[in-house]
Amino acid sequence: MSNFRDRKIHRVVILTGAGISAESGLATFRDSDGLWEHHDPMEIATPEAFSRDPALVFRFYNARRRQLVETLPNTAHKALAQLQMSFPGEVYLVTQNVDDLHERGGSKQVCHMHGELRSALCTSCRAVLGFEEDMSADTTCSACGAHGTLRPDIVWFGEMPYHMDEIGRYIQTCDLFIAIGTSGAVYPAAGFVGEASLAGAMTVEVNKETSKVSRSFDEQRQGIATVEVPALVEELLAG
Ligand code: OAD
Repeated sequence: MSNFRDRKIHRVVILTGAGISAESGLATFRDSDGLWEHHDPMEIATPEAFSRDPALVFRFYNARRRQLVETLPNTAHKALAQLQMSFPGEVYLVTQNVDDLHERGGSKQVCHMHGELRSALCTSCRAVLGFEEDMSADTTCSACGAHGTLRPDIVWFGEMPYHMDEIGRYIQTCDLFIAIGTSGAVYPAAGFVGEASLAGAMTVEVNKETSKVSRSFDEQRQGIATVEVPALVEELLAG
């Protein structure tokens, strides 16, 4: 248990978005130089786009998977791992990010609600497989042996994010909800702050700018993640 702004905090839920990985060199989606500035998400991140032009979709995610090798976790990822390790209560981390920077920053528990770049999903046997290489329509599923059935393990627009029941349970019972580096443009994640508030939690947003849901938070910390997150973690650990 810890005291944060005179409230007793037992359970913390943290939601992260692309902004936490921006200073590691990964482009966000909706900032001025973001991924969706250069690509139409409807041409890449939908099941229909994948049926229409699988090669284009594979190319997009292969490039992003390759980029992970050149990328390192930053002080914000590391500070959250430290919080998970040292906080005298529970810290549940849910990310919309498909990179592995939380894990490489030291987090032992990470819920990837939008899937992961370093895994593949077999559309035949539904196996989720660790996957480091480039993926194509010629790839064979190592679980069932089917050919050409693998797709990126990414939750696309129109699909249901992973682990929603588990996330809902944590949000319903948390005392503090923190969102870091997310624009609040994509539901259901954008609705988590409202659910946490209704459940009685204090809510804090960390963002370089104002997000679409900033007004729903009790407290807003405007600044870059590598500065704001370590400071917030220090406060939480100080009690
Ligand atoms: P966005 O690109 O929509 O938003 C990134 C947010 O991070 C913006 O609000 C920025 O102001 C903020 N930001 C940028 N750099 C920052 C920094 N250094 N420190 C703090 N904040 C910073 O990314 P998400 O909200 O994560 O889904 O996007 C949500 C989903 O939309 C993604 O998971 C992805 C996308 O379509 C799928 O691909 C399924």
